[in-house]
Amino acid sequence: MAETVKVPVDGVAVTAIGVAVIRARESEREDRLYDDPLAQAFVTAARAGFGEQRWTQLEALADQFFDGRTIGVRLVDERFEAAVAAGCRQIVLLGAGLDTRAYRMNLPQDITVFEIDLPELFDFKEPVLAATEATPTCQRRVIVADLREDWRKALLDSGFQPSVPTYWVDEGSLGYLNQDWNRSVVLTLTELSAPGSRFGAGRVAVDPDAPPYRELRNFVGREAPPEHMARPADFDVEAWLDEIGWDTQFHSWNDMTAHLDRPAGPLNPRIGSIAAIRR
Ligand SMILES: C[S@@+](CC[C@H](N)C(=O)[O-])C[C@H]1O[C@@H](n2cnc3c(N)ncnc32)[C@H](O)[C@@H]1O
Repeated sequence: MAETVKVPVDGVAVTAIGVAVIRARESEREDRLYDDPLAQAFVTAARAGFGEQRWTQLEALADQFFDGRTIGVRLVDERFEAAVAAGCRQIVLLGAGLDTRAYRMNLPQDITVFEIDLPELFDFKEPVLAATEATPTCQRRVIVADLREDWRKALLDSGFQPSVPTYWVDEGSLGYLNQDWNRSVVLTLTELSAPGSRFGAGRVAVDPDAPPYRELRNFVGREAPPEHMARPADFDVEAWLDEIGWDTQFHSWNDMTAHLDRPAGPLNPRIGSIAAIRR
């Protein structure tokens, strides 16, 4: 199987493999924060498509981002559960990458997970998943689309219902779009959101010149993380979300991670996540 799968070894889709490496490592730990049994299948299949040196670089990057990113996965798991408990019946993964929550979170059959990502990502993901013979516990729809283009039509064509409360997940993907595209994605999802829909936006303080981000840019190559990471505070996200129809609440990273048995900071209390609920 591994020889026939097209592995994305560069471009922005390669970042999804890095996150799969992180989830596979976490899943092996005795004190794991979550279990993603399919992550290792992606890692094994991807490894076969990489040269030695580039794989070593990818693993080194995964090391550098591991602590924060793996905790982030757990926090999104918790938000997933909260969104489902609050009545969201559709979940849209914006830049789904190698996410397997449709398989691993015991989501009920009346939930539909819509996974949006680029063609090169699904060219890799789908055959690997098929070879594992795993089945999702809920409904799962694959939407091959570029978030910089008309993804709305593709989502609607796949059965998305704007009248149903939806949880929209950006887990490390909108950061790869520039700020205009970011806003355009959020405006579109706002139009598609019934009252009670949920969305989360990170409030981060990234120094794009810090070594891990420089190395990530070099590694990704042709679609490097954008310059807006350099000026994350150049508009007031909460005020804007409020203006376009969302109630927001800020949760600091320190508060969100306090219940986890894993060193996570403390960080600047202004760093964290903005939870938004559609009015
Ligand atoms: C860092 S990965 C995160 C993936 C996933 N959310 C996770 O946490 O594992 C970023 C993902 O965003 C996707 N992505 C980046 N730009 C995109 C675009 N313009 N349209 C669709 N997907 C995009 C990439 O292909 C990649 O899978």
